[in-house]
Amino acid sequence: MEKNQESIIIDSIAVNKIITKIGLNRVMDDLIAELEEAIKNYNKEETEVPIRSGFNYKKPFLGLVEWMPIMKKGEEVLIKVVGYHPENPDIFKLPTILSTISSYDAHTGHLNYLVDGVLLTALRTGASSAVASKLMAKPNSKTLGIIGCGAQSITQIHAICRLFPIEEILIYDIDQSCMNSIADRIAPINLGISPKASHISEIMELSDIICTATSIAPEKGPLFSEFKSKPHLHINAVGADFPGKFELPKSLLEKAFVCPDFLDQAVIEGECQQLNKSDIGSSWDELIHDEDLKKNYQSGISVFDSTGWALEDQVVARLFANYAEDLNLGTKMNIESFSSDEKNPYGTIHQLINVSE
Ligand SMILES: NC(=O)c1ccc[n+]([C@@H]2O[C@H](COP(=O)([O-])OP(=O)(O)OC[C@H]3O[C@@H](n4cnc5c(N)ncnc54)[C@H](O)[C@@H]3O)[C@@H](O)[C@H]2O)c1
Repeated sequence: MEKNQESIIIDSIAVNKIITKIGLNRVMDDLIAELEEAIKNYNKEETEVPIRSGFNYKKPFLGLVEWMPIMKKGEEVLIKVVGYHPENPDIFKLPTILSTISSYDAHTGHLNYLVDGVLLTALRTGASSAVASKLMAKPNSKTLGIIGCGAQSITQIHAICRLFPIEEILIYDIDQSCMNSIADRIAPINLGISPKASHISEIMELSDIICTATSIAPEKGPLFSEFKSKPHLHINAVGADFPGKFELPKSLLEKAFVCPDFLDQAVIEGECQQLNKSDIGSSWDELIHDEDLKKNYQSGISVFDSTGWALEDQVVARLFANYAEDLNLGTKMNIESFSSDEKNPYGTIHQLINVSE
């Protein structure tokens, strides 16, 4: 069989060129559609998703570096490496979430491509909340509440507004400057809505859909305790993804239908940490096939416990790899060392030495 020596690097410049050429709304719409399809077709026999693993630490700065693997048997292994360091913006002027995604050929181990995971994580996390909201929120939801106005909030707003007739966006963050800048940051989406600064109790009371995406520290949650809400509120709880870290009060979770993206992980890192397994509802890959249950969820209080599932990364990475191929973007490189004699790792060095002599 012919050797494929090339790997494609889809760096942030290529990712931004892709988005510029395809259009931000079309990218988000494609991603939401592909993700919904992948969740519908998810089959444990064909696709293995182990829970993520990694290192988490409190010093010198609180954070973690984790790897999130997924294997489509006989086809591809994809691994996202993701760092979460909430002090990055203040101390290093870097995003809280830094990430790269790599795809390997499951026949040979060859690196197919490496793609930026920072923008792709934000896109897929927004798309995931949109898909979950389509399953659980009232279809005519008009008021969107955002608690935590950092990087993820932008794609939460974008994705939800692609699927729902949102007329009002209420926002809250402990950092006033972050609230003030959100209108500028969502400008490329052209929503024609000015987000209104609010506070948590008002957001809880008036919203149809809420996205919580805060960097609240482990053991410091929940974000609030008492609340009033509409009878049909849906919450995408995006921020809990660390042992001991959660955003929502247990009293709310106990009243709500709680739907995890990935149960085994959610009980370790998500809102589900606070619940007994018997109090947790169906995962979204089950819910997506159950019309009656969806109707039930849409009329009550529901929570999507979003900890991040590697299937989401596989979907977004493939989408961008396909865009890159169609648009002839990305850089082809021979990263892996192959010589003409596959049993001789020094083969190429030997040839080079002979040439230079
Ligand atoms: N579920 C997923 O798949 C997924 C994916 C990416 C990020 N995340 C998580 O989402 C969260 C947000 O990520 P980000 O990239 O937007 O981070 P970010 O640092 O850009 O933004 C976090 C924001 O939360 C605000 N905040 C902190 N404590 C708060 C509080 N008590 N009340 C209100 N606001 C508060 C901060 O001021 C900051 O503006 C992180 O916890 C991250 O780990 C989850």
